[in-house]
Amino acid sequence: MSDTQMVIITGAGIGIGEATAKAFGRAGWHVVVTDILEDEGRATAHDVVAAGGSAEFHPLDVTSTSAVDHVVKQVEDARGPFSAAIANAGIAHKVPLAELTDEKWAQTLDIDLTGEFRLARAVAPGMAKGGGGAIACVSSVMGTTYGWYDHVQYNAAKSGVVGLVRGLACDLAADQIRVNALAPGFIRTAQALSTVHSVGPEGLEKAAEYIPMGRIGEPEEMADVLLFLCSDASRYMTGQTIIVDGGLTVGRY
Ligand SMILES: NC(=O)c1ccc[n+]([C@@H]2O[C@H](COP(=O)([O-])OP(=O)(O)OC[C@H]3O[C@@H](n4cnc5c(N)ncnc54)[C@H](O)[C@@H]3O)[C@@H](O)[C@H]2O)c1
Repeated sequence: MSDTQMVIITGAGIGIGEATAKAFGRAGWHVVVTDILEDEGRATAHDVVAAGGSAEFHPLDVTSTSAVDHVVKQVEDARGPFSAAIANAGIAHKVPLAELTDEKWAQTLDIDLTGEFRLARAVAPGMAKGGGGAIACVSSVMGTTYGWYDHVQYNAAKSGVVGLVRGLACDLAADQIRVNALAPGFIRTAQALSTVHSVGPEGLEKAAEYIPMGRIGEPEEMADVLLFLCSDASRYMTGQTIIVDGGLTVGRY
């Protein structure tokens, strides 16, 4: 067992998860990179190590309770409990309401909300035995503030994350486990750059015009806040969702 702090991150092959893995790696954490994208996940872990950090990759689909439990146990058996967990994996599919079947609704809820819960539930007992830790979930301004046309299921899941961290914060505080969420605005990743499911490159440039800071966010700017939420600097904070959006939600009126 090592004294190095250890974090597990879901959806860490690309985007915000990848940037977060690299930020934790630079900060000296052992990073357990997970994703359904195996090549991308391996590349992230490789990049962390190449930069002088410590990392390993495990394929992980957050829709499987047994898979989440298995990866967490496997790593804990080898290295001890996690100090932090980042429930980041998510999808944002554009589905007009008239086409929103039960299956499509359930798929988004399963990944974006239940998937985040599965990770928290799996790491909590080990963290408690290890003396505590921090769990950071990823919501969205589409969960805290806005409705998003043709994304009802995403709105519902990301709002659910706000409630998830409140409930978990209460249940886990006695074990010295803090649970918070990050709610990003428009961030330059594959999700937001998708013209099929999101605003696309042109939409992002347009969004920059009405974001008070005049630009969209970068994945690294989300990673730094997730690192803060898992560090001692946020030690009296739990159950909160922090919006990080360049002023988007306070500036548009
Ligand atoms: N980019 C934005 O503007 C933005 C805004 C608000 C919230 N978010 C949220 O940030 C998080 C990261 O998104 P991103 O922008 O980096 O998008 P992304 O599409 O670049 O990355 C999403 C990651 O989740 C993984 N994933 C999807 N389904 C999975 C599953 N079943 N199991 C495990 N992994 C799975 C993908 O493989 C990918 O690595 C998501 O929860 C997203 O909803 C993003």
